[in-house]
This record gives sequence, structure tokens and C-alpha cells, in this order.
Amino acid sequence: MQTNHTVLTSDARTLTGISDQSVDLVVTSPPYPMIQMWDGLFSNLSADVKTFLDRDDGNAAFEAMHRELDAVWTELFRVLKDGAFACINIGNATRTIGGRFRLYPNHARIVTCFQKLGFDSLPEILWRKQTNAPNKFMGSGMLASGAYVTNEHEYILIFRKGAKREFKNAAEKESRMKSAFFWEERNTWFSDIWDFKGIKQGLNHTELRGRSGAYPLELAYRLINMYSLYGDVVLDPFMGTGTTGVAAIACARSSIGVEIDGAFAPVIIEQEKSCKPVAQALLSNRIADHDKFVQVHSRAKGPLKYISLHHGFPIITRQETGMQLYTIVDIHAKSDVEVLASYESLGR
Ligand SMILES: C[S@@+](CC[C@H](N)C(=O)[O-])C[C@H]1O[C@@H](n2cnc3c(N)ncnc32)[C@H](O)[C@@H]1O
Repeated sequence: MQTNHTVLTSDARTLTGISDQSVDLVVTSPPYPMIQMWDGLFSNLSADVKTFLDRDDGNAAFEAMHRELDAVWTELFRVLKDGAFACINIGNATRTIGGRFRLYPNHARIVTCFQKLGFDSLPEILWRKQTNAPNKFMGSGMLASGAYVTNEHEYILIFRKGAKREFKNAAEKESRMKSAFFWEERNTWFSDIWDFKGIKQGLNHTELRGRSGAYPLELAYRLINMYSLYGDVVLDPFMGTGTTGVAAIACARSSIGVEIDGAFAPVIIEQEKSCKPVAQALLSNRIADHDKFVQVHSRAKGPLKYISLHHGFPIITRQETGMQLYTIVDIHAKSDVEVLASYESLGR
């Protein structure tokens, strides 16, 4: 098996290089409206944003920033296949403008736009980003009627374009069986609150990742496993440092990353080219976690009922029997903007 990973340095408000109905999954995190680190970027995208910020008109600036994101969401509706999912990581912003402190509800504004475009909203995930920072409590401290609750979570909004994806022929059905995950992974991944404390990142460019608002590799890795099959095409229209591309390689899916800032393309290609150890670690951790689960479960409840056909793992359900795991054989750059990865079945 081979997967292909392309980086486009362009503006995702017009995804001209990507055909209608050609993408199987979107995993992304946009610049967050009304978070100061993105004011400059939004002001470059729209002169209105700067005008409204200069006038201390927070509501109008919020709306002007979202109008720029709306253009990207509109393009996603065009390029996604029917039945495909879009997962959008977004946090709300808190900010004082013109002497008034308030919350800017980015998640609600994005849900409204996706629904207008014709996407169906699905149950979402709260990513709990608990911190011990001393300034996490905002407002009047211990005095009533002027203190605000902490803002320690982000959202992973989940949408589907149209009706459920269909798996019509034998090859599609088999690919779905091969792309299955473990029962206990389902229980964690499909819970509505995620907490990545203690999960090692393993990616380079730590400082750049901080400045670009990168999300954890585990976040993209889970979503890709949850909402796509082997060989599918995953698009990230706000690629940043390339976390989604690395996760796609680790999951044996192809990817397209769009990023407006040309400085990122070489970073993305380098991350993708060198991600074999990180990808192997993700897989080894999954297997080690499953082995642990089998031990604990069989001690408590007796032997597991099924055995996986390709790898001989004891498993809980029949749905897991066809699961096929792949290890990476090789990753290399085909050009300055494209990486190829090849895989073989996990020998176990
Ligand atoms: C929150 S960061 C994404 C971080 C990424 N998930 C990662 O893990 O590195 C948003 C990215 O979107 C890019 N961006 C902003 N507006 C864009 C646009 N119109 N088209 C393409 N990329 C854009 C920014 O340059 C930034 O790198």
C-alpha cells in the first residue's frame, strides 16, 4: 500500500486545486477569531477586521473574521464527498475590548455556518485543556458578581455532509473491516471529553508549533482513525506545521495540506519525511495498550471471545476480527511539496 501527501501553499478560501467531491475527511483547526495572536492574519485577509478592531467594535470584528472562515467552510462543502466528515478544532475567545470583557463564541458561530451550508451537526467532543496557570481565574477574584469561570476547554466540532457514507462493493466493505479499531479504543475515542495529559507529542519544531497553535498529534490521529478508512484522502485547509499530514501517514491515509504562509511548506515536508519513528511509536503504543487491556480484562472476566484474523490478538467483538494494522516501510519526498509513504502488513 502507498499513500501520497501534498502541500499546497495557497489561500483556503479558494481551493482551486482540489476537485469537487474528492475528499473523504477534513481534520483542521483554523486561526481562532478574537484571539490576539491571529488579529494580524485576519486583518490581512480583510480590511474590515482592522477597521473594527481599531474602533473597539468587538462584535463587528468577530463577525468580519468569521466571514473569512465561512469562505473556507463553503469550499469544504464542495470538495468533500457525500457522507464524508469534517472535524473542526476550535476554542472560544475571551477578551476585553472598549473596557468590556466578554466571550466570543467561535464554536457557536461555526456550527451556525456549517448548518446553513447543509452539513449535519453530530455530537461533538470537548477537549479539556486544564492548566495550573495562576492567571486562569479571571475577573474579581473572591468578590461576587464580577468573576468569570475559566476557559479551559476547546471543541472538536463534527459534521457530516449529507446521508451516511455507503460501502457498496466487496472491496469497500473489506477496507472498512481492515480499518476497524479495538473495542477499548472505541470506548475512549468516542467519549465526548478528551484529555491528552501524559501523551507524548514526539514532533519536532516545538517552538514553531507553539507559535502556530498546533494541536496534539494524538488529536488528529484519533480523528483520522475514527472517521476514515485506509487509503482515504484527508484534507487540512489550515495545515500549519503539518500535524494532520503526519497523523495521516501514521494512519495510512493520503493527505492534502493547504497553508497560506509559504514558510511552513518546508517544515511540513520535513515533519512528514521524518515521521517514521513517531508513527511506529503510535502503533506500538496501541498494541501495548491492547495487550495490557487483554491481560486486565481476561483476569477479571475470563478469556476474550474472538481472535483477530490477521494478527492473532484476543479481541472483544466480531467487528474487530478483520482489523489489519500496517507498519511503514519507507517515506520519501517526491518533490518539494509531495511525500510518498509505503506500508506493509504488521507481522504479528
Ligand atoms: C491554528 S493554525 C493550525 C495549526 C495546525 N493544526 C498544526 O498542528 O500545526 C492555523 C493555520 O492556518 C493558516 N491560515 C490562516 N488563514 C489561512 C487561509 N486563508 N488559507 C490557508 N491557511 C491559512 C495559518 O497560517 C496557520 O498556520
